[in-house]
Amino acid sequence: MPEALFDPLARIYGPFAEITHARYRPWVESAVPANGRRAIELGCGSGQFLALLADRFEEVVAVDVSAAMIETARRRAGRRRIDYRVGDIRDATPGRVGTFDLVFSVNTLHHLGDPRLSLPHVRDLVGPGGTLVVIDYVTSTPAWARAGGPAYRLYRWARGLDGAVRAGIARRSVGDARAMYRLRRDPHWRRLAAGARTLDREAFRRHYSEAFPGARISAGLDRSVCAVAWARPAAWARPDAEAAVIETPPAATGPGSS
Ligand SMILES: C[S@@+](CC[C@H](N)C(=O)[O-])C[C@H]1O[C@@H](n2cnc3c(N)ncnc32)[C@H](O)[C@@H]1O
Repeated sequence: MPEALFDPLARIYGPFAEITHARYRPWVESAVPANGRRAIELGCGSGQFLALLADRFEEVVAVDVSAAMIETARRRAGRRRIDYRVGDIRDATPGRVGTFDLVFSVNTLHHLGDPRLSLPHVRDLVGPGGTLVVIDYVTSTPAWARAGGPAYRLYRWARGLDGAVRAGIARRSVGDARAMYRLRRDPHWRRLAAGARTLDREAFRRHYSEAFPGARISAGLDRSVCAVAWARPAAWARPDAEAAVIETPPAATGPGSS
């Protein structure tokens, strides 16, 4: 269960997210519409973007499967216009939560398993004329490390160290370098990273273009992520007539790069 891995991370995740999000916050600020009625954040984590959403939308629903993450988000972003819900994204259907003018998610959707099922599920939450804004991890693990074992562990260690040094230099802060290293070396985070089914950039482009025809896909924000902005036309029929059923993701097939 994802909450079992995310609950223990809630305390140390916030500082890490603050640092990594700084790289794509300007893109998010320009992609999120200036105003609207209802927004939902899928997998809000420690809530770094909730204040921005609450500034622009009348009502914000913040969903996360981890109660500890939701509690951290509530402490950070407060209650103003935000309805916090502990729950699985796969249970958030238009029948239960309605549709939204903005569906927003950062570094979360890869946890939902097969994108051919999860992306139509997410798309159904976007109301007519609404907007989808998603950033998610893509794998950057080199081929030599993908088989797992010592090569993968060495790669992860070097990557963690590299990320910490870069953050420390870019932000001129030893504390920030420590926060980056601390999360990446945490055993729960390492288990998540090893089990993550992140797409590579090409597969990301293919799946998102299929699910969100005409979407704007940005690959250059950061080496670890791709970003998508999609405006759902007011009159638009979903391409696949059958409702998508989200199943429990199958066991991990290889290391990813959370
Ligand atoms: C890597 S964190 C990203 C958090 C936040 N969006 C950010 O960018 O800082 C992934 C988040 O997704 C949540 N999560 C994972 N699977 C989920 C699911 N099936 N339903 C709801 N939340 C989920 C986790 O609890 C965690 O808070």
